Amino acid sequence: QHIVHLKVVDSTNVVAAKLADEGEPEGTLVISDQQTGGKGRRGRPWFSPPGTGIWMSLVLRPQLPMAHAPQLTLVAAVAVSQALTEVTGSQAGIKWPNDILFDDRKCCGILTEMNMESEEITSVILGIGINVNQVRSDFPEEIQGIATSLREITGHPIPRASVVQRILEKFETLYDQYVENGSFACIRDQWKKQSITLGRHVSAATSRGIITGVAVDIDEMGALVVETEQGQQKVYSADIQVS
Ligand code: BTN
Repeated sequence: QHIVHLKVVDSTNVVAAKLADEGEPEGTLVISDQQTGGKGRRGRPWFSPPGTGIWMSLVLRPQLPMAHAPQLTLVAAVAVSQALTEVTGSQAGIKWPNDILFDDRKCCGILTEMNMESEEITSVILGIGINVNQVRSDFPEEIQGIATSLREITGHPIPRASVVQRILEKFETLYDQYVENGSFACIRDQWKKQSITLGRHVSAATSRGIITGVAVDIDEMGALVVETEQGQQKVYSADIQVS
């Protein structure tokens, strides 16, 4: 596996996408101590200070139809949540689609970006950001109430390399299983077990308006199934609020 370790970058996703374009193979990992333009979902910034977190992006080249790409994010969420549960000894939960939380506070986000050529996926960049050794006061004020780190969870600093290793091991196993069997069923079962969204009342801001109801399932493509007053509705992409 080719590992590119950098001190500072704008975004590891951007560097990884460039390397993928230049032909770097599947499995190439870009990891940086700091990001100056870390990207979150929906155009938001991702706070990536030097030395305290894991900011990394993996190049994937799955032979998949484009519509299956959202499933990959869920594969990653399952892998990361299992790895973080083992590393901390506390149960991590997945908030749909792919936030990893402890006690309702987020410690990890995943940003998947695709490169396409005439309807075919040429590469997928799987970006993973994990707050590892920050203490509460290290976070920007506006996220202090909703963010956490592995150190906050365990009460002691955690070596980042061991966390990276555990995540890569978990991800490789699940990804191989998923790609080789061509089956999402097993991933979906594991995702559901680790979900903290199912069974809860949610409110999803989608492009078709706000959908509220009880989250009851994820479908075979990874969409969230919500039981509303008008019957079941599917949410493919949104930010959700859980109450
Ligand atoms: C989110 O929850 O909004 C997704 C956050 C993803 C952050 C990671 S950090 C490594 C990679 N590079 C980026 O610019 N973003 C992802």
